[in-house]
Amino acid sequence: MEYVKQAITTGASNLTVMQFNIITLFPEMFGDPFNASILKRAQEKSLIKIELHNLRDYCKDKHRVTDDLPYGGGVGMVMKPEPLITAIEAIKTSQPEVRTLLMTPQGKRFEQNDAVRLAQYSFLTLVCCRYEGVDERVRSFVDEEVSIGDYILTGGELPSMVVIEAIARMIPGVLGDANSLLDESFTQSMLEAPHYTRPRVFKDMEVPEVLLSGNHAEIERWRQKQALKRTKERRPDLLSKV
Ligand code: ADE
Repeated sequence: MEYVKQAITTGASNLTVMQFNIITLFPEMFGDPFNASILKRAQEKSLIKIELHNLRDYCKDKHRVTDDLPYGGGVGMVMKPEPLITAIEAIKTSQPEVRTLLMTPQGKRFEQNDAVRLAQYSFLTLVCCRYEGVDERVRSFVDEEVSIGDYILTGGELPSMVVIEAIARMIPGVLGDANSLLDESFTQSMLEAPHYTRPRVFKDMEVPEVLLSGNHAEIERWRQKQALKRTKERRPDLLSKV
């Protein structure tokens, strides 16, 4: 919970700049998701910077080829090592402290504690590959391999957006109200209690009486009980982590 306290006491007065570098064949995919809401504001406030690196710019051949046939045969193409490693190394030259992540379904499953941990770095590179495969030698040039879950996507672009948003939210000043971090599901290894807003009755469904009582201690007790009940029902695995 240390990071939450830090976020609250530091606030926006102590600007933390974190740079995300993304190596991708599809930089155009990142436009809209990074130009809205929290990530847009975080960039405007210089809390985070996102730099897109088009992998083709790191190819040395005329046709800017990034993949090739697999040795030993088989279906699909394999991403060539040279452009990827050239891009990774170029970023390391200008940002020696950078931590490099390879987005792959073979990686360790990304969780909230990884977002907290990775938010401590000032520079992160996320390498997006096509799912079919990357030359094995690329692996020795990255620090971690990250998966966002046990399913296959076409490439690492969407996973890298997920990871960047989860990390950016942990950077002090990025969320308007740092206190909201305290309540969030997973921050305390529990799901959140149900939320309600007006109207008081909607299609015969009523807001629980206790929330209208104005008794803050009572409301807090109810929320804790509901959070525990919900976690037991939906994600009992989380309780073993508490
Ligand atoms: N690339 C394709 N699928 C992925 C996944 N589930 N996580 C991370 N990178 C991926």
